[in-house]
Amino acid sequence: MLSSAEMSEARQRIAAAYDPELLRGAGHRLIEQLAAHLGDVQASRTAVLPWREPAANVAEAASWLERSLPAGADGTQVLRHFSQLVTLMLQRGQNLHDPRYVGHQVPAPVPLAGLFDALGATTNQCMAVYDMGPWATAAEWCLVERLGQLIGWPRSTFAGMATHGGSLANLTALLAARNVALGDSWEQGLSGHGRAPVLVAHADAHYSVGRSAGILGLGTAQVERVGLDARRRMDPAQLEDTLRQLRGQQRPIVAVVACACSTSIGAFDPLADIADVCQRYGVWLHVDAAHGGSACVSARYRPLVAGLERADSVVWDAHKMLFMPALCAFVFFRDKALRFEAFRQEAPYLFDPAAPGMAEFDSGLRTVECTKRAATFGLWGVWALYGQQLFADLVDLTFSLGHQFYERLQAAPDFEPLHEPQCNIVVFRYVPRALAGAPPTRLGQFQLELRRRIIESGEFYLVSTKINGIGAMRTTIINPLTTPEHLDQLLDSIRRHGAALLGA
Ligand SMILES: Cc1ncc(COP(=O)(O)O)c(C=O)c1O
Repeated sequence: MLSSAEMSEARQRIAAAYDPELLRGAGHRLIEQLAAHLGDVQASRTAVLPWREPAANVAEAASWLERSLPAGADGTQVLRHFSQLVTLMLQRGQNLHDPRYVGHQVPAPVPLAGLFDALGATTNQCMAVYDMGPWATAAEWCLVERLGQLIGWPRSTFAGMATHGGSLANLTALLAARNVALGDSWEQGLSGHGRAPVLVAHADAHYSVGRSAGILGLGTAQVERVGLDARRRMDPAQLEDTLRQLRGQQRPIVAVVACACSTSIGAFDPLADIADVCQRYGVWLHVDAAHGGSACVSARYRPLVAGLERADSVVWDAHKMLFMPALCAFVFFRDKALRFEAFRQEAPYLFDPAAPGMAEFDSGLRTVECTKRAATFGLWGVWALYGQQLFADLVDLTFSLGHQFYERLQAAPDFEPLHEPQCNIVVFRYVPRALAGAPPTRLGQFQLELRRRIIESGEFYLVSTKINGIGAMRTTIINPLTTPEHLDQLLDSIRRHGAALLGA
């Protein structure tokens, strides 16, 4: 136990760290520094990625842990040190707001969303039970209702919740599907279901789908991949063949997982046709719309997800195409009655018998997470400020830019687009004259090496992928400040670095 003198000293140090005036001073500094940084980044005055070897960053981060202020440092010293740390963090980070960022499906978020998130973090509005985050719950509930109606479901007939990411959302949806398809599997496990149950998935489904099969005890080897059409979309005819064969083998089918859109090239599956097949076979249809669900906010691009409303479950990441900071994702169930299905046995233990109606609002009954951050403050705040129009603008602009980029690639004799994009994901190869006719593996390896050179130069940030096992470059135009001129510069940058690589 602390002595009373020790207790009083500890209290003084703690009081200094909790001083609201300190927060005020630090907050002002933070906003000044952030705004200046965003100004620089948006004007491309810094590298997109300030590349350093991971070990150098880890060592530097660790060194700052050794340089904390002496006990009893005054407010001025704390603020000075705080600013230094902020400067360092900004200098070392990835700069998604640079319009030359065309990399992973991680957006340059609407900046004010971060401030709403900061409010949630500073006051620790977390969820699991309603009382711990009443406004966090309210924000999430009304967004679930809004987004579900945009998917196309009648008011209050469906259910949904925010999760810490799309991977967890896929897992939650597939857990519910498993519990429905395999009656008592939650309690009894997978024994007693005859032949091995199978999950049927788009051949390019995100790896979290395969992982879910592993986590759910189905086994990753029990994921049956459905063949794709020429545009790498799930082929309904091949789906029908797969389901017929599985039924013939008497294998229980947990669900069919379709994509809207696929991670690899952003291909949107023909959902209405797939739903017809699933309906004929009485199989749960799960649509991973982590990226493309946001087409629902746009009148122009809504047709890409026609049929989404027929899915039994849907995943939609707001931290992708609703331009929110991570983490903010949603899982939906078309049938409200299934809302407790994923974790059904927990309900009696968690809810308060004194107020049984509250269970409806206790997110912990329906999520993998117990404590859950106020994931939707950013989305709720930005939606309340700007309405749906801003989100429609963000989707319309970036999806259109995807096509403009494709047209540029098509027009350039030394570039080979690998598909006509349906959204803002564009995959291509650079084929300089020196590599025309080179073996595919050599050409693929060249793409991967070239992409690494470019990101380490800090000029652009793009990613690489493999299509049919051969390397390619992949861009997601997910910064709304990117313009066609930046995309021209990207082609020039690729050519310049490509020449250097070939000459090296
Ligand atoms: C189609 C799809 N589903 C799921 C995920 C995983 O989402 P998260 O990164 O939010 O876990 C991704 C991520 O890129 C994705 O593209």
